[in-house]
Amino acid sequence: MATMKLNTQLKTSPIMPFHRPNSIGLIRPNRVGFRVFGSGSEQVEPDLSVKVNGLTMPNPFVIGSGPPGTNYTVMKRAFDEGWGAVIAKTVSLDAEKVINVTPRYARLKVGVNGSPKGQIIGWENIELISDRPLETMLKEMKQLKEEYPDRILIASIMEEYDKAAWEELIDRVEQTGIDAIEINFSCPHGMPERKMGSAVGKDCALLEEISGWINAKATVPVWAKMTPNVTDITEPARVALNSGCEGVAAINTITSVMGINLTTLRPEPCVEGYSTPGGYSSKAVHPIALAKVMSIATMMKAEFSGEHSLSGIGGVETGGDAAEFILLGSNTVQVCTGVMMHGYGLVKQLCSEASLPYFTTHTELVRMQKEAIQERKATRKGLSSDKDWTGDGFVKETESMVSN
Ligand SMILES: Cc1cc2nc3c(=O)[nH]c(=O)nc-3n(C[C@H](O)[C@H](O)[C@H](O)COP(=O)(O)O)c2cc1C
Repeated sequence: MATMKLNTQLKTSPIMPFHRPNSIGLIRPNRVGFRVFGSGSEQVEPDLSVKVNGLTMPNPFVIGSGPPGTNYTVMKRAFDEGWGAVIAKTVSLDAEKVINVTPRYARLKVGVNGSPKGQIIGWENIELISDRPLETMLKEMKQLKEEYPDRILIASIMEEYDKAAWEELIDRVEQTGIDAIEINFSCPHGMPERKMGSAVGKDCALLEEISGWINAKATVPVWAKMTPNVTDITEPARVALNSGCEGVAAINTITSVMGINLTTLRPEPCVEGYSTPGGYSSKAVHPIALAKVMSIATMMKAEFSGEHSLSGIGGVETGGDAAEFILLGSNTVQVCTGVMMHGYGLVKQLCSEASLPYFTTHTELVRMQKEAIQERKATRKGLSSDKDWTGDGFVKETESMVSN
């Protein structure tokens, strides 16, 4: 059977002009849409491209900020494999303040009778934002934009409670030619005392103030990445959109303690015998992420124009996982831990699973229907009398009379 093939070629100029006056009264380009092209030829080719806040992506699958966007080599790999966009690892002005530890990840596995060899369903990290010098990250982002001018590169940024610092960071990342900025209002660990990350995302007044500074300065679209570690995620999402952000991304990781090693009585991930709460991601957070995205999408539909965008994140490993976010109203879907577990080639699976394999030629439809009718005639549904039960076909005969 001929199936629809994914067309990852850009059909139009990828980057629409984006007009962003330095005020809240923004002129925003149109939101997004999936298009399926009927070319007039026999096969219909799906075009998974989306237009989000004026940016055209070959597909809605985006590398989420984290290890998969941490340097030039891996971001280039993401573009080469076909990811719709890449969000770089979060940067701040002074990387010297960022000191990571190792090990910094711990996994939750499910196996038969608690076997530790089971499938990974949960992932905790105590990783901070990028520990690479800002200059290096900026140089690499610039190089990527020069080499891939048609592809969408998004900078993720986070700063202390300091207007001038935010303005300088925005200015410097914009000079690299990046297409949009995601604001990390959501990192659950590290430096809350400096009012960074989820310390902002959890405090609507602080969020409004900082988001106001950012939106007055930025000249490219701004997405606010939200923390799920709040009772009602629609409250900070609403504040971010009202203060000028073009989009909302959710969720960042969920505060977690992965577990205690019952032999050593030490917590995981264990660093010199100690640990600290971290951020939970991967499959186990998917239902929670869906609930948060559903709430935000409902709020956005009721209160905002369709020009604002929503990026769904959390536990995506299959096209089906991604489709669920899209069905709830997400325009793009981000993947972080899924790439750490399955590699950059995952995008091909996401694209193929997100395209419908249910189109074929008319001749093929006629053949399939003829065959199906013959088959149905051959297997008469149900037994007409109790005398027809047989020993050999007993299970099939039972199934033939079941309705679901
Ligand atoms: C190891 C690791 C590091 C991360 N670092 C960042 C980061 O620097 N900035 C950020 O906004 N989110 C970061 N995240 C959060 C992810 O982008 C994503 O929001 C979250 O993990 C849920 O999606 P997932 O299940 O696809 O990983 C990180 C996640 C992991 C697992």
